[in-house]
Amino acid sequence: MPGKNQTVISRFILLGLPIPPEHQHLFYALFLAMYLTTVLGNLVIIVLIHLDSHLHTPMYLFLSNLSFTDLCFSTVTMPNFLQNMQSQVSSIPYAGCLAQMYFFLFFGDVESLLLVAMAYDRYVAICFPLHYTRIMSPNLCVSMVLLSWALTTLCAMLHTLLLTRLSFCKNNVIPHFFCDLSALLKLACSDIHINELMIMIIGALVVILPFLLIIVSYAHIVSSILKVPSTRGIHKVFSTCGSHLSVVSLFYGSVIVLYLCPSSNNSTVKDTVMSMMYTVVTPMLNPFIYSLRNRDMKEALKRVLQKKIKLSSNYGNYISDVFIK
Ligand SMILES: *[C@@H]1O[C@H](CO)[C@@H](O)[C@H](O)[C@H]1NC(C)=O
Repeated sequence: MPGKNQTVISRFILLGLPIPPEHQHLFYALFLAMYLTTVLGNLVIIVLIHLDSHLHTPMYLFLSNLSFTDLCFSTVTMPNFLQNMQSQVSSIPYAGCLAQMYFFLFFGDVESLLLVAMAYDRYVAICFPLHYTRIMSPNLCVSMVLLSWALTTLCAMLHTLLLTRLSFCKNNVIPHFFCDLSALLKLACSDIHINELMIMIIGALVVILPFLLIIVSYAHIVSSILKVPSTRGIHKVFSTCGSHLSVVSLFYGSVIVLYLCPSSNNSTVKDTVMSMMYTVVTPMLNPFIYSLRNRDMKEALKRVLQKKIKLSSNYGNYISDVFIK
């Protein structure tokens, strides 16, 4: 509860990135291009997977979920950040800040849990290839997706509710480009011990535990390959797990560097650059990592485009028939 002699803060100021004014336009164009690439790349993946029936397998349905999450994850921060770069004073109302933080946590955690589901899918595909369709039933896949949404709703809600207990009195300047939980906690003028404790517990639950589960499933995959070493087996693992493994290392790499290796001298620049990494760069790269080296995706794109061309030429024939008659 704010005391009598304290002013209650109703807006926060987002400082954004420490970009010199003469480079402002260049960076604006760069971030706009990155955001548009993220939206377009992920939309293409979602549409492609839903249009092509060959891709209606658990792996690709999870990938489509991951693309949807990436799309939302960068939409939580990027449009607001781009708008703030254009305006002189970039303030955000208290409720807006809380909402941004909630959705940021929500989609970030969903991404983490989806990566576990995808690792489990690869584990079953490689270690139990004969039982794959029975184990990875549509029911199980839907339950895994629903469970990850339910869990992360709880976690994000808990963090947000705990934050509403705090009072902000003097400082309302956030040295970041979005309303980050840890940046907000630094501004609070009430006791934040419970918040920090919950960050550690929930962080362990939705970041460290998933990361360990992914490592365990890959350990199983590698040991099952080593039991029957063959170049075909190794090739298969690299082709189906390579993309997943790259996404996992990009995502957890930046999160772990950011939160588990706290900088000693409180360097906000390094923190901001690392959070740029997983809020902007990872969601942008995911579609490319998955589609560039993936033959199924390329063939699906070809099939869908061919169908489109056939449709439009049929439509053209129809139009000319109508006009000739
Ligand atoms: C997410 O995954 C579920 C289960 O595999 C699937 O039914 C659903 O269509 C997917 N959602 C999206 C947006 O791809």
